[in-house]
This record gives sequence, structure tokens and C-alpha cells, in this order.
Amino acid sequence: MASKLDINISVDVLEPAELTEQERQAMQLAQEAANDAYAPYSNFLVGAALLLEDGSMFKGSNQENAAYPSGLCAERTALFALSAHYPNKKIMLLAVTARRRKDTAFLPAMPCGACRQVMGEYEHKQQEDIPVLLQAPDGKFYRFQRVADLLPFQFTKDSL
Ligand code: THU
Repeated sequence: MASKLDINISVDVLEPAELTEQERQAMQLAQEAANDAYAPYSNFLVGAALLLEDGSMFKGSNQENAAYPSGLCAERTALFALSAHYPNKKIMLLAVTARRRKDTAFLPAMPCGACRQVMGEYEHKQQEDIPVLLQAPDGKFYRFQRVADLLPFQFTKDSL
């Protein structure tokens, strides 16, 4: 019989009051970042925030384009901008949220596959886990311990 590989992923499901102060601040910045989104085609505003080792934070939002594939998701906008400006700053947390309009409720924000791949690249690069905090249904939050939990069997530079 074929052997099996079991993958166990543990995700914390948190009420707002259960967030740490740093998580709360990062999620608040992600929520603010969503308001900077340029999303005239999807009307889906996504915000991402990165908490860095020195306590500072960096944000990004989705940036769309009339030539649709030329646009970029919030997570990659934030990660690429951070890496371009501060290539060696360690990321302690990535927070993501979304909403349809600036005055409506925040919605679950599950990173797309391409963003997971890019998140994985930087986790691998810094050789330390990047916890991920996602807006979840019903005003709750999902906390993943590391990007690798969002993307098992990852293709990394070790695969080359
Ligand atoms: N989007 C993100 O910003 N992050 C994701 O992980 C998923 C999708 C954006 C891309 C596009 O501007 C809009 O959401 C609708 O797909």
C-alpha cells in the first residue's frame, strides 16, 4: 500500500480582543492601506501591512491596471516595496484585509497563490518564520504561524 505524508497545519481563529497589541496595530495599518488601493476594475480593496524587526511597519495595497495582468496584489506590492527599499529588514508579521468600499465591512482576505509563493520566498530568505494574520469571516482573524503553512510543498531556491 502507498505510504502517506500527513501535513498538520494549525491555524488560530481569533476574536479581535485576542490579538496582541502588535497584531492589532498591523491589522489596523492593513485596514488603512486598503483605503489606498487602486482597484477601479474589481472594486475589491486589499490592504497588507508588514511589521518589521525594529517595530516599524510598511504597507501596500492592490494596484490594478486597464491591462488587467499588469496590476499587482496588495501583499506583493508591500513585499516588493519593502525589499526594494530595505532589502535586509526582517519581517515579523504580515497582516492582510479587504473590503469592497471605503465605508463597508472588512472581508476575508485569503492571499492568492502567487502572493503565497512570493511570501514564501522572503520567509525562506530571512530564514525565520513570518507569521500571517488574515481577516477571516465574521470579524474574526486567522493566525498562521508561518507562510509555509499556507503553501505546503513549496518551490524554493533549494528546489533549483
Ligand atoms: N488581490 C490582492 O490584492 N491580494 C490577493 O491575494 C488576492 C487578490 C487583489 C487583486 C485584484 O486587484 C483584486 O484583489 C481582485 O482580484
